[in-house]
This record gives sequence, structure tokens and C-alpha cells, in this order.
Amino acid sequence: MVVSRRGSGSITLPTGQTMAIHTRTHEEEDLPHATKKTMADHLRKYESLFTLTPQRMRMIVEAFKDSLELGLQKPKQIVPMIPTFVFGWPTGTESGDFLALDLGGTNLRVCLVTLQGEGKFEMTQTKYRLTEEQKQDEGQKLFDFCAECLKTFIDTNFTDEDGTSLLKPGELLPLGFTFSYPCYQTRIDHGELIRWTKGFGAKNTEGRDVAEMFRQSIEKYQLPVAMTALINDTTGTLIASHYVNPKTKIAVIFGTGCNAAYMENVKDIEKINDLGISEKDQMAINCEWGAFDSFEHEHLPRTKYDIIVDETSNKPGEQAFEKLISGRYLGEILRLVICELIDEGVLFLGQETYKLEIPYVFETAFLSLMESDPTDELLMIIGIFTHFFAVETTLAERQFFRALAMLIGRRAARLSACGIAAIVGRMGYLDEGCLVGADGSLYNKYPGFADRVHEGLIDVFGEKGNNIKTVHAEDGSGVGSAIIAAMTKARRDVGLYPHV
Ligand code: GLC
Repeated sequence: MVVSRRGSGSITLPTGQTMAIHTRTHEEEDLPHATKKTMADHLRKYESLFTLTPQRMRMIVEAFKDSLELGLQKPKQIVPMIPTFVFGWPTGTESGDFLALDLGGTNLRVCLVTLQGEGKFEMTQTKYRLTEEQKQDEGQKLFDFCAECLKTFIDTNFTDEDGTSLLKPGELLPLGFTFSYPCYQTRIDHGELIRWTKGFGAKNTEGRDVAEMFRQSIEKYQLPVAMTALINDTTGTLIASHYVNPKTKIAVIFGTGCNAAYMENVKDIEKINDLGISEKDQMAINCEWGAFDSFEHEHLPRTKYDIIVDETSNKPGEQAFEKLISGRYLGEILRLVICELIDEGVLFLGQETYKLEIPYVFETAFLSLMESDPTDELLMIIGIFTHFFAVETTLAERQFFRALAMLIGRRAARLSACGIAAIVGRMGYLDEGCLVGADGSLYNKYPGFADRVHEGLIDVFGEKGNNIKTVHAEDGSGVGSAIIAAMTKARRDVGLYPHV
């Protein structure tokens, strides 16, 4: 991104497009704009709406801890605390070749991972973008698409120059399937979809075994693969991050969705006490914490914009925590504030604003760009508003937008800190400290997000909050899924399968 400070230049957008931008010198005289003071007054109002005090955070942490505990005690709770049947930590010696398929919120990814032991690995991967139609179409079609992409990948990576297969007759490649939606599991290679999240709505899938549906697609395309594990991205991230750094005890995804996983003592997962699993074992828990405070809305501070986001979503009431934090929603929250100010006649008087009035047009990536604008005149923000929404802005308005992005981004980070603090508190990790493997577009690309999570942890725990550090995680859906496939194979080889 090259932006000149003198009023013109070009920027590269997240979409890959390059955009030329120019500052207008007479803008403030041409159109009726809000004054600097008006914008400052409005900002104060939003500051009080979006700011979380340390005291409020501590209350949220307590309620969060109760929800985690309830989810472990009884099945089908709001925060479902899903036992993953991933038993304990990897040894770091896991090795071999594994395929991984990752159906996330935005992309589909196929990877070939070679685990080399000693926490080392190599990886080849291909990404495919999912269309909005695919997310809403028949579920089986979505899995067929996964199988089709997998077929292309295998044909490309497992044939020699003459197109002859490099696989032995009858050879099956072990595959870990990262399916990042809440699924009840009773075995590692099975999972009943509780509900779609992140805007997905593919039909005839909720309540069904998605592993089985995917197996049908594998058969249909006659793929030489054996699906050995169905995992969540957070669980994969937990295991992959621990493989390279054993200080990692928790994993969090901050992407299109938001969720966490950690390792629990089997004896404390009361709801599976009857399965006969040794009390000495440990099992990874996929918290599905995005559901915290769903339906009841008792603990989280929701503004009227959050309520609109919720009520106009395809799943009203659900994923209450996620809707305040994840990349799918932050841009929309900011857009709703802007629309309110347009309706009140504060912003863009006399300008056509219909482009801003379309739900979800304001991407969360714009918030990142706005916050990272390095120029005094905020040229990046001029660029975003003129190029995508055809409206002109004054410097005071741009400063306001940037401040607003900061408030929304900061609240997301501080709420995330509450979730992390709840797990840390529950597991007693505060004194010895631990690493939190974190991944996802928000964590990786949003400027200052990690620092704000850390500030939040200090606000909750005081100085000891410094003992808890988030670090950029290893690729959970690829590497993590391969390690879990290897761990599962090792258990199977010694007769510990499904779970005795
Ligand atoms: C959503 C999904 C969850 C996933 C998270 C991050 O919260 O329900 O399974 O881990 O997004 O991708």
C-alpha cells in the first residue's frame, strides 16, 4: 500500500483491486457537511455506548465461567462445550502424510500436510472461494462441491507427469475434515450439526451427521480417501499450536466467526461421565463460545445496532457473543451507525447515499484499513467512501469514522478477552501463565487487535494478566487436522478406539 501524504496516490484493497485516490481541496465548501463540533458530540455518545469498563468486564467473565461450567455438566446448553474426542496433547513426534479439507466461513481449502515430527511440517494447499448461493443451497450439494475440489487436488498432486496415479491400488489417503460449525460428537469421525452459524443456511443439514453426508460425496466421486477425523478449526488450532509450542493451552479463532477450544480433564466433563473414559484422561473441548448469552441476552451489553444486526440475521437470537465480535458483523455494526446519522440528517446531506444503505456492504476489512490509514488527511478513508460508496467526506467526518471503527474494534477485542479470562480462570492458568494460539482475519489483519485483547486481560486480572499472551497460531485446519488424524490413528493402532 503506497499512499502519498500530498493528497493523491493509490492503495491496494483487500479485494486485490488498486484504487487511485485524490484529495479534494474545496469539498467543505461544496456540500453541507456536519461541523467538527457536531461530530465530536456524536462521538461522545458512541464512546459511552461501545466502551466496556473493567468492572463490567469482570461481571461478564463471571457469567461466562458459569456458562462454561453448565455446558460441561449437562448436554444441550446454550454454550454447548462440545467434547471432541481428541484425547490429550500431541507428543510432537507425530509424522506422516495427511490430507486436510477445511470448510470455513469464507473459503474451502484442501491441503496436503507432511508431519515431520519434532514439531515440524510441510504443507501444499489450494483455496476455493465459496459463493453465497452455495452457503444456502442443499447441504449435500455443498459436500459434493468439497469432494469435487478434493478430487482436483488429488488428481494434481498424486499423479506423475504422464497422468498416472502415484497411489497403490486400493490405497486410501487419511483425511482430516475441518468443519467449523457446532457439531455434537460421540466419536471423532462423526458429528451432528447443531446449527449453522456465520450466515450459512444450507438446507437439510442441521440435525444430520455431516461426516456421513461427506462420506456419501466421497463415494460419489470415488475418491481414494478415508475420513478419519471431523474437527473444529479451534480444536485443530489448539493441537497445532501445542505441537510447535507446548506452552499453548487455549486456542481462539477471530475470523468470520469467533470461538475457542482448550484441554479439559475428563473427570470435569460431567455430562460424559457415563462413557467409561478414564478419569485420568484429558479431552479437548470445543466451547462454541460464540453462543454465549444467546436468546437470554442477560450479560452482554448490546447497543441498538447490535440488536438490529441480530434481528435481521438469518438466525435471530443465536450467536449473541459472536455477533459483537467476529469479522462477519463488525462492518455491519459501523454501517448501521452511519445510516442512523444519515437518517438524522447529520451526514452526507444532499448526497446520494443508497450505496451505503445495503446491508453488509461495509466490510470489516474497511475498519482495519480505516484504523491503519497512515496519512494526516486520512486518504484511505476518502478512498473507501468515494470509491465504494460514491460519497464525499470532510476530514472531521473521516476522523469520526476512524474513531468509531476504533470503538467497535476495541469492544470486540475486550469482549474476547473476557472469554479467554473465563477459561484461564476456570483452569487456573493465571499464575503459571500460558499462551493462547490465535488465528483468523481479525486477529491477523486488524491493527492493534491483539494489543487490545492484552489490555483487556490486564483490566480483568491486573498485572498478572501479562502472564497470558496470545500468539499467532499454527494453521489449525491444515496442520492441526493432520496431527489429530495421526493421533487418532495411533489410538486406533493400539486398540483405543472409539474410546475405551
Ligand atoms: C463459528 C462456528 C465455530 C467456529 C468459529 C470460527 O463460531 O460456530 O464452530 O469455530 O465460527 O470459525
